[in-house]
Amino acid sequence: MRCLVTGVAGFIGSHLAERLLSEGHEVCGIDAFTDFYPRQIKERNIQGMLTSNRFDFIEGDLLRLPLVSLLDGVDWVFHLAAQAGVRQGWGNEFVRYVDANVLATQRLLEDAVRVGNVRRFVCASSSSVYGEATSLPVKEATPLRPVSPYGVTKATTEQLCMLYHRNCGLPVVILRYFTVYGPRQRPDMAFYRFCYALINQQPALVYGDGRQTRDVTYVDDVVEANLLAAVAPAAVGLVFNIAGGARVSIREVIDLLKEMSGMPLPVKFLDDQRGEAHDTFADISQANYVLGFSPRIGLREGLRRELDYVISYTRGLASRPYLGWPLDSISQRLGESDNDK
Ligand SMILES: NC(=O)c1ccc[n+]([C@@H]2O[C@H](COP(=O)([O-])OP(=O)(O)OC[C@H]3O[C@@H](n4cnc5c(N)ncnc54)[C@H](O)[C@@H]3O)[C@@H](O)[C@H]2O)c1
Repeated sequence: MRCLVTGVAGFIGSHLAERLLSEGHEVCGIDAFTDFYPRQIKERNIQGMLTSNRFDFIEGDLLRLPLVSLLDGVDWVFHLAAQAGVRQGWGNEFVRYVDANVLATQRLLEDAVRVGNVRRFVCASSSSVYGEATSLPVKEATPLRPVSPYGVTKATTEQLCMLYHRNCGLPVVILRYFTVYGPRQRPDMAFYRFCYALINQQPALVYGDGRQTRDVTYVDDVVEANLLAAVAPAAVGLVFNIAGGARVSIREVIDLLKEMSGMPLPVKFLDDQRGEAHDTFADISQANYVLGFSPRIGLREGLRRELDYVISYTRGLASRPYLGWPLDSISQRLGESDNDK
């Protein structure tokens, strides 16, 4: 199949594109290298794919690229490009979220309909659309009550996809990911920050009391869900929770890291931040029944793989100063936000 992957240089998009290539598909990957986190990280994410003659990389913004020609001949679209992060998005920052998550999606949908060859349009959504749910676990029919500007724009992304499905017959599938982790995780996300703090012997910064819980999902399981969503006959027009079934508190994650590494990890508790739900927990029975999805990688193994990645990445930085930003400023930057969606 010919696939278009938007957000291909990001955390999840790069893993998905690698898997598609490994299964013999052709991939056209688009990414704008937005400045949410350093470009060098994203360049490294796609480095291994650039040698493949079945991979075309297009650097550019979905708001400006000639999408009709890029979509010509494409069978499967995986739309992962977005402005992520639950803590930003207030005030003047909101426009970035609207541009990336709403306007760019609308443009892609419009042109996917225009070319007429797209057989499946799989869109990345988020547990953030649920916000502070009144009962757990959440099902797909649970009312959406986002508590962050990001969650509002992802709910709009979903509505736009459904609009083009209902009115134009675009074969859309929506996947609501729950806190994804693993190698290449975004540096603003908690697991990455904790791994980084551990190996640099700095305190792990935790917002709130650390008793908040997350249903966490290993990245390979999210990739698998995308492939299943591209082929499952009954998936079109549906929304699916995609989660790992390992619901843990932030304190438990820190304890596990300490136990796995045998190293101390002091914790500094900071004020609660607005935008974050206290608990997330998914009912994944619909994904299991319709897609045949079931998560395979447990928390201990997944966290170990992420810690390995952070160690090798940090070593790489130290030995390759031309990549160039001071480690101190990274840790300061990482300490400034905690965006787990
Ligand atoms: N990581 C998670 O835990 C998580 C959870 C729920 C949902 N999601 C969703 O999964 C998707 C991927 O998330 P991620 O964590 O890999 O994020 P990421 O920031 O690593 O990747 C997103 C990529 O999209 C690119 N991008 C943004 N706007 C663009 C535009 N207008 N044109 C072209 N490229 C653009 C960015 O440069 C970035 O490389 C997003 O849609 C996100 O909302 C992620």
